[in-house]
Amino acid sequence: MCGIVGILGTSPAAPLLVDALKRLEYRGYDSAGVATLENGVLTRRRAPGKLRELENVLEKAPLSGHSGIGHTRWATHGAPTEGNAHPHAIGKVSVVHNGIIENFRDLKEECIGRGVTFETDTDTEVVAALVSLNIAGGMAPKEAVDATLSKLQGAFALAFLFEADADLLIGARRGSPLAVGHGDGEMFLGSDAIALAPFTNRISYLVDGDYAVVTRGGVSVFDDSGAPVEREVKTATASAQLADKGNYRHFMAKEIYEQPEVISHTLGHYIDMARETIVLPDAPFSFADLDRLSISACGTAFYAANVARYWFERFAKLPVDLDIASEFRYREVPMEKGGLALFVSQSGETADTLATLRYCKDQGQHIGAIVNVPESTIARESDVIFPTLAGPEIGVASTKAFTCQLAVLACLAVAAGRERGVLDADDESKLVNALVELPRLIVEGLKQEPVIEGFARDLARSSHVLYLGRSTSFPIAMEGALKLKEISYIHAEGYAAGELKHGPIALIDEDMPVIVIAPYDRIFEKTASNMEEVAARGGRIILITDEKGAAHSNGLAERIIEVPDAYAFVTPILYAIPVQLIAYHTAVFMGTDVDQPRNLAKSVTVE
Ligand code: M6R
Repeated sequence: MCGIVGILGTSPAAPLLVDALKRLEYRGYDSAGVATLENGVLTRRRAPGKLRELENVLEKAPLSGHSGIGHTRWATHGAPTEGNAHPHAIGKVSVVHNGIIENFRDLKEECIGRGVTFETDTDTEVVAALVSLNIAGGMAPKEAVDATLSKLQGAFALAFLFEADADLLIGARRGSPLAVGHGDGEMFLGSDAIALAPFTNRISYLVDGDYAVVTRGGVSVFDDSGAPVEREVKTATASAQLADKGNYRHFMAKEIYEQPEVISHTLGHYIDMARETIVLPDAPFSFADLDRLSISACGTAFYAANVARYWFERFAKLPVDLDIASEFRYREVPMEKGGLALFVSQSGETADTLATLRYCKDQGQHIGAIVNVPESTIARESDVIFPTLAGPEIGVASTKAFTCQLAVLACLAVAAGRERGVLDADDESKLVNALVELPRLIVEGLKQEPVIEGFARDLARSSHVLYLGRSTSFPIAMEGALKLKEISYIHAEGYAAGELKHGPIALIDEDMPVIVIAPYDRIFEKTASNMEEVAARGGRIILITDEKGAAHSNGLAERIIEVPDAYAFVTPILYAIPVQLIAYHTAVFMGTDVDQPRNLAKSVTVE
């Protein structure tokens, strides 16, 4: 994912910017650039490739100036060329950006109509154009940025440098992280505290929706309503700056909130936005040649695979054999040579998954791995790696790795559908656009956190919780139950809603909360019938749904968590967020060790 740095310093900014960008290299990138105010003029140096290339450019053509912004770019809109590298500049405004501006096409049209000429294929340039137009229209930089932010859709972080003022940076955060570094007579912006570690350990973190007006004398922060707010300055230790919880009480909370950004980054790796198509790494197999597909995994990764089965079967008409790796490895499954076996794993080290992979290899299968740790054993032993770009996941309970696994599997299912002739270009474009909207929808969905926190205390008093869902919401019900078990130690089960009357309905009474996951889709009414059955037996229903689902819930639910409307294809990813928050807040009330729950290991390298 892209990395952002901004400096208002007392010495030449360019080398410091490059130094800070090096600390963001772990996020992955394919071009880089810096801009400084050289004698009051915005001047840029950019280069495709690694930071070494940018350093070569700077050696030949150094930049002076004590104020600057820098960027490492992971290409999403437009190839990783010098021209598309950030910072972008229009008029007297330069900007660096992490994330995606979803409505950039409409905004670009608007700017072209107002006389702007664009030089790049990026979504970012439109941000510089809008701010520049506002300034040309007489607004001060703060008002110009404020007015621009209200027009942008998507999940992003931004940092602006203005030609008219060498003592001003403006940063904004919506969905992607941004930290402010407080020095002595110097101030900084960075994607995280790690980037700012050489300059200062006094850090404040912007909250989603904030923007910050930074001068050498300090920072003024404004929230999403434009009201001034205080954000606490914390002193980060060196180790904390490496494994940094930011404003969050637990890594799990931080990782839940990172999801808009890491999903955006992961999707950016697979989606060519210009052609609205999925691009996969070269592989020694074609989905078109397969009769079936096998997917194996453990725990949360197995639930991601469960969702994927619905997608592959629906969008690619490809039957899926789905297995818990610890079962598969001892089943002696006969396999036709030349098939494809996919493995899903955050760590890439899970012993059962690895053993299953080796078995499938012996059976002459092509091996594909959806992994978060690219140097892991599972990655190394696979023919092709489909990386999830979730970044390091510290909390033992998997959150962002799960939704990134789903994002990758969704891309694979769409690509399979195209290769097998099930999806035409129009179908693919619709599905791709549904995926691209996800980071923004997740940002919206996260706003339900206070509602969830409000009833978590109640849930924390329960001894058992039942989760119900149909279709792709069924695996999310199982994942919700697993999350709650893992970190709150409350017994929970996830069931296919249609199975209720085949047994679990006997459990229903007024002490059994039932969490129903039901977007308003083609089978909503079926799940609504199951809610009737629960309500008729005095069961207390917590319904996770959208606006239409809430309107059609007939007053059956004691509580409703309303998730934004979304295309049915992507709802499992979107609905994973509230189930994570339910588990998190319940565990916080229980006072358990949220990040390192008892008896659990992050990576299960033994049988
Ligand atoms: O590293 P992996 O994805 O292979 O791990 C699989 C499971 O151990 C893991 O998902 C586990 O269930 C998590 N603790 C779930 O939160």
